[in-house]
Amino acid sequence: MDLKTLKSKIEGIQTLATIPGVARRVLELIGNPTVSLAEISRFISHDPVLTSRILRMVNSPIYGFPGRISSVNQAVLLLGLNVVRGLLFGVTVFDLMQQTMIGLWEHSMGCAILARLMAVKKGLKDPEETSIHGLLHDIGKVILLLKFPDEYEKVMVEAREKELLVYEVEAGYFSTTHATVGAWVAEQWSFPKRLIDVIQYHHKPHLSKVAPMETAIVHFADVLLRGRGFGFAGDSTVPPVHPSSWELVGLSEPDIRSILSEAEDLLDEASDLSL
Ligand SMILES: [Fe+2]
Ligand SMILES: [Fe+2]
Repeated sequence: MDLKTLKSKIEGIQTLATIPGVARRVLELIGNPTVSLAEISRFISHDPVLTSRILRMVNSPIYGFPGRISSVNQAVLLLGLNVVRGLLFGVTVFDLMQQTMIGLWEHSMGCAILARLMAVKKGLKDPEETSIHGLLHDIGKVILLLKFPDEYEKVMVEAREKELLVYEVEAGYFSTTHATVGAWVAEQWSFPKRLIDVIQYHHKPHLSKVAPMETAIVHFADVLLRGRGFGFAGDSTVPPVHPSSWELVGLSEPDIRSILSEAEDLLDEASDLSL
């Protein structure tokens, strides 16, 4: 399949027959670039299951807000449109593949937590946004899995048997990787340019132009988390941190150790946060 055909198949993902009604409506809603905070807030509030999921997420260690957020309105006001759209997107699409790639949700939450802690340590002004970047970096895996379940199963088996990284095997099956596929979808859904860049380059952080620091952080967090062992990203090998990211992130070893020890309790809490 050439890239153009693949891209058009991926872009029609919300019309997949296997996507249940609520998820389809969520995707339609967040796919609309003119949607307002009030509309999103109203939509979530009318669905008790979505409401409780969103409230659990915003009160989880992924955010680390002091105090409790008790209503959808409050969450939406505090977090802003981009974060809420990202969150809703993450919860919805990951939910669609819970059974098929067990552990990817945990991997994503773990990356969100570590990326946020690193962003805080670096003094970035919006660590919650970096957290969303971590949460959604591997979204392309979910999309490929939903659209091409049989081929993707083969990709995972091959990665396991040959001890390769998933993205290396993907290239052989799809002529591209989950990073590019995730970026296509994020672009189609009018996600912020920085998020698109992080998704696109999280395995090649030195190529990021729009959000080099966030991309380096998410790349670094991804590797750290695999080293620590939390969740499952589809492959069992731990890749090295790209030298450019070591340099750009510029955290000392004691800094990294303190981030990892701070993350311990948060990861524990997150592992109870099933969808
Ligand atoms: Fe990845
Ligand atoms: Fe990952």
